[in-house]
Amino acid sequence: MTTTSSVTVVGLGPMGTALAETLLRQGHSLTVWNRTPEKADALVAQGAHRAADITEALSTSEVTVLCLKDYDTIYRIFDTDALHGSVLINLNSGTPAEARAAAKWATEAGADYLDGAIMVPPFLVGHPESVFLYSGSRDVFDKHQATLTTLGDPRYLGTDTGLAVLYNTALLDLMYATMNGFLHAAALASSADVSAETFAELALGWFLPFVVTPSLVEQAPDLDKANYPGTYGTMEMNLNALDHITRTSVEQGIHADLPRLMKAFGEQATTEGYGANNYLAVFEIFKKRAKA
Ligand SMILES: NC(=O)c1ccc[n+]([C@@H]2O[C@H](COP(=O)([O-])OP(=O)(O)OC[C@H]3O[C@@H](n4cnc5c(N)ncnc54)[C@H](OP(=O)(O)O)[C@@H]3O)[C@@H](O)[C@H]2O)c1
Repeated sequence: MTTTSSVTVVGLGPMGTALAETLLRQGHSLTVWNRTPEKADALVAQGAHRAADITEALSTSEVTVLCLKDYDTIYRIFDTDALHGSVLINLNSGTPAEARAAAKWATEAGADYLDGAIMVPPFLVGHPESVFLYSGSRDVFDKHQATLTTLGDPRYLGTDTGLAVLYNTALLDLMYATMNGFLHAAALASSADVSAETFAELALGWFLPFVVTPSLVEQAPDLDKANYPGTYGTMEMNLNALDHITRTSVEQGIHADLPRLMKAFGEQATTEGYGANNYLAVFEIFKKRAKA
């Protein structure tokens, strides 16, 4: 592993600017390029070099970090002839197929390519516990790990270039499902004039960390084995619980589609033969949908 001392950042939106400021603060020799050049003014005042064009941006540093709006934007700004011999680490969001296509495009143009995803907002860039996910070229990751560690906690996921954005999307999926679960539960509590703050104390301060998270951690290995023992509660029992949530929502006058939807997943699992298993057998329903 070598420490890369010269880095180019292409794309100076809120995230690209945070990456550039962090690299500069950590003593890297920094070159920047942005479609709207004046967004680099503050960085230049702090010691960054403003590349005159994208070709100079690529050729000036050992590694080029891309932080643009999306994958399409990359194709718009780069002249593929200029890519030969460069090392690209791309941190924009997108889909696994887009990431794999970008890797193919870069490799065919003679560049090394590593894909990545940023799991924190701009103000947490540079914090040692801020996770950045990477996938694709192991060689690029290993060679530039010291530079990547400047930005946060770099996690290499595997050679499949699509993995970083897939993990990113899966974690956002978890975040939105958890937020909606909490919001619906808080709405239920609010129907009896319980404040969200009061409810959060028990729901987020105790229930999630003491009951929900540990039981999912314990049962995750069982998901991989499709092992859903109904020893402590069957799908039928869970359907009763989901029915209570649905009926209570209706009774209390709050939106009932979310529990109805969760109940529908359990009913489908029962129809498909998982009635005596525990609720996590719903995993089989989700996987089937994913393959469809
Ligand atoms: N902000 C966050 O909290 C966050 C967190 C995690 C991941 N990300 C990801 O990081 C990436 C960058 O996000 P961001 O928040 O910095 O802002 P953004 O609005 O997603 O991207 C802004 C950058 O894209 C450039 N751009 C857009 N269209 C362009 C075009 N047609 N040609 C050339 N450049 C173009 C902008 O240039 P101009 O300045 O000239 O418009 C600017 O450099 C995104 O993929 C985002 O999903 C962001």
